[in-house]
Amino acid sequence: MTDRNDLGTNNVLECRNVSAYRGGTLVFDGLNLCIGRGVNTAIVGPNGSGKSTLLKLLSREIYPVYAPESLLQVYGRDRWNVEELRSRLGIVSHDLQQEYGRHARGRDVMLSGYYSSIDTHPHQRFSPAELDHAESLMLRLGIEALADRPFGRMSTGQQRRFLLGRALVHSPEALLLDEPTSGLDLSATVHYIETIRDLMRSGTQLILVTHHLHEIPPEITRVVFIRDGRIVADDEKNTLLTSSRVSELFDCDVDVVSLNGFYQAVPGERIGRKWT
Ligand SMILES: Nc1ncnc2c1ncn2[C@@H]1O[C@H](COP(=O)(O)OP(=O)(O)OP(=O)(O)O)[C@@H](O)[C@H]1O
Ligand SMILES: [Mg+2]
Repeated sequence: MTDRNDLGTNNVLECRNVSAYRGGTLVFDGLNLCIGRGVNTAIVGPNGSGKSTLLKLLSREIYPVYAPESLLQVYGRDRWNVEELRSRLGIVSHDLQQEYGRHARGRDVMLSGYYSSIDTHPHQRFSPAELDHAESLMLRLGIEALADRPFGRMSTGQQRRFLLGRALVHSPEALLLDEPTSGLDLSATVHYIETIRDLMRSGTQLILVTHHLHEIPPEITRVVFIRDGRIVADDEKNTLLTSSRVSELFDCDVDVVSLNGFYQAVPGERIGRKWT
């Protein structure tokens, strides 16, 4: 059972003056960011800006540099048991996709979520309710036919669905997704986005880190721009997802178009003219 004594807090995440390294690289140097509970948020920035590192800080895969005046709280708490935390925050990262052995079967990928482990192990026990829940999630995600297939023999999109299922076994309050549709074809992208939208409609908070504007669902209301490990803008989605703001963030000329509540960036006219 998770400790719900923190229900008073209004934040999923609060970072104050957080510094963090990846290897020898200082990625964040005094980062300040607060993500409120229930606010569907996209963190958008170019390659290398620190998006995946932020996600790793949140999931406690990496820890900030100690400084007396710094604070990193998740659901109002400084300290978490990693397993307990992962039952509150469902995380799907690309690293996770790479860590899975080729031989883990689909059903075991799902079940491994209960122990926050990679694959299942002989000493792990699953209750009938847990087994049933995993089966019903596979049905919901449309992957039940692949339950016995080894992970290494699935397509990228099928693997991504199993990892989403793995994150969902605990019915987490919030889902953290890192570029969820990269590598997926059009149909798999549409299907995946629809699944995420369904989850949001049923109350799951989404925190998405991405540089793909097209995968930001209409239900996302807040956008944070990150660049070189610094938050450079933080506002309503329609204020930030404009041609000039996105061009500035990525340091290239794009036009941002919006349709059906989604956004897409296309090369701007200046870029087109350069080649004619
Ligand atoms: N294992 C590592 N060792 C050293 N430096 C790293 C390591 N992983 C990432 N970095 C560096 O940390 C910085 C932030 O990387 P991060 O992966 O968080 O960026 P990102 O915004 O997720 O980029 P992308 O859009 O390419 O996924 C980059 O400068 C990157 O080179
Ligand atoms: Mg990344």
